[in-house]
Amino acid sequence: MPEPHIVAADPAWWRTAVVYQVYPRSFADSDGDGIGDLAGVRSRLGYLADLGVDAIWLSPFYPSPLADGGYDITDHRAVDPRLGTLDDFVALTKEAHAHRLKVIIDVVPNHTSDQHPWFREALAAGPGSPERDRYIFRVGAGPDGAEPPADWASHFGGPAWERVPDGQWYCHLFAREQPDLNWDNPEIRQYFLDTLRFWADLDVDGFRVDVAHSLAKDLSSPLRSQPDLDRNLPLDGSDPLYDREEVHEIYRSWRAVFDSYDPPKMAVAETWHPTTSRTYLYARPSELGQVFDFSLLKAEWGRDAFQDVIRRSLEDHQGVGGGLTWVLSSHDVPRHPSRYALPAGVTPDAWLSSHGTRPVLDPGTARRRGRAATLMMLALPGSAYLYQGEELGLLEVADLTEDQLRDPVWERSGRTLKGRDGCRVPLPWTRSGPSFGFGPAGAWLPQPAWFADYSVESEADDPESSLTLYRQALMLRRALNADDTGVDWLDTDDPQVLHFGRRNGWQVVVNFSADPRPLPEGRVILSSGPLDGHLLPGETTLWTVRR
Ligand code: GLC
Repeated sequence: MPEPHIVAADPAWWRTAVVYQVYPRSFADSDGDGIGDLAGVRSRLGYLADLGVDAIWLSPFYPSPLADGGYDITDHRAVDPRLGTLDDFVALTKEAHAHRLKVIIDVVPNHTSDQHPWFREALAAGPGSPERDRYIFRVGAGPDGAEPPADWASHFGGPAWERVPDGQWYCHLFAREQPDLNWDNPEIRQYFLDTLRFWADLDVDGFRVDVAHSLAKDLSSPLRSQPDLDRNLPLDGSDPLYDREEVHEIYRSWRAVFDSYDPPKMAVAETWHPTTSRTYLYARPSELGQVFDFSLLKAEWGRDAFQDVIRRSLEDHQGVGGGLTWVLSSHDVPRHPSRYALPAGVTPDAWLSSHGTRPVLDPGTARRRGRAATLMMLALPGSAYLYQGEELGLLEVADLTEDQLRDPVWERSGRTLKGRDGCRVPLPWTRSGPSFGFGPAGAWLPQPAWFADYSVESEADDPESSLTLYRQALMLRRALNADDTGVDWLDTDDPQVLHFGRRNGWQVVVNFSADPRPLPEGRVILSSGPLDGHLLPGETTLWTVRR
């Protein structure tokens, strides 16, 4: 076997890293207020180091009225008092580094909270003021300006405009409590350069850039119409709001900040549109270095769908010089084992809508497919992002009642889409006790009784558990890390089997069929489910190495 690659010691560690996303409010609660906090994260660093991840990415922990789960920020350079203090953050980072874990934080530059002092000042100062120019205020269309200034749509449903008492409208691509900043204003640009330095000086290792493709907007008059209101079309640089050429200039200026540190800070862009070769422009070494490729996350379970997106991602990434990323789950989508168990033709949105009878998913299918997909992803070249709880094989909590929902998607979709709370339910650490060990008291979102069987305590010593599989896979994966080049597709006559090789001699076989297939030759390294003699069971992934 090749020498294992020690990620932490490499300045380009992020190219092959496994990054674990912590959604702080739902990870671990140290003080019993029902909300996870930084001290809670700190207390579980040993668990994360044992799991074998290379880095943690902390979703926002900044002060926030929580209109959008913390992505509505009132101070980009502070810690929400419910989650701790800046000293707690410094202590957490220091201790993470002692565990050889890197720390990535979320930067949210597209918008602030409507409770941010800047937005209050903008409302008070009135039309035409420099305070208003930090945001995107316009007069309305139609008689008396009573119509929104343009047809722009909010991601969460409804128009992307809200009227204020003096008659002007402001733009919000997300909730109305998240006014968009005006990136044509040099003050905003400078503020975020300084904010990056603020956190970089506190020793963070990198940044995840929220809605990275939307900062530069075409705000020329009259405002242009948005061609793809559903945001399903691949972008080509012509949209007034997303992926404009000018946005890259911003990231080149950020790169200068990142490179002024030794080792340079890393960054990863979040762009939610369909992935194309344009998506990878954000990953250029002169910009952020990495961009989330969500095409695998959006693909339905199946050989052709998976192979197609992997091929295209490898191609799209070619020649850019940046890193490759793979993601199956996050705080924004239903957990992947549940997604893969949906009946044919049922989309995750339809499953979680408030209408009709919700099909009950088979947990066996979810478990087999979820584990098979994970093991496939972890054998791909590049970096993988895991979402907290996926190592436990957690399923989506699909039965939150309407009064329990917190996601703004629920209200903004006219109470038709239940939104993203089902993957944000606080983690189960123990089999019993208040909030299954999440904290000394209850949890801010209710946990179902079945969480007991998925708790860390239940899984830690079980050789068949998801936690054991993730631990083994992450340890073994280190043998692959020295090589972040492509994959060799290996021919298979079987339309339900995916087979690829890595340059170090590993072979990866995914059996998408429900039925067993002959076990390929080679020494077995790991499989996502128990093997059956000389057979590779249905919905199972196998890692082997040539003898
Ligand atoms: C990103 C985040 C999502 C948030 C949105 C607005 O897509 O991942 O959770 O709602 O940005 O900040």
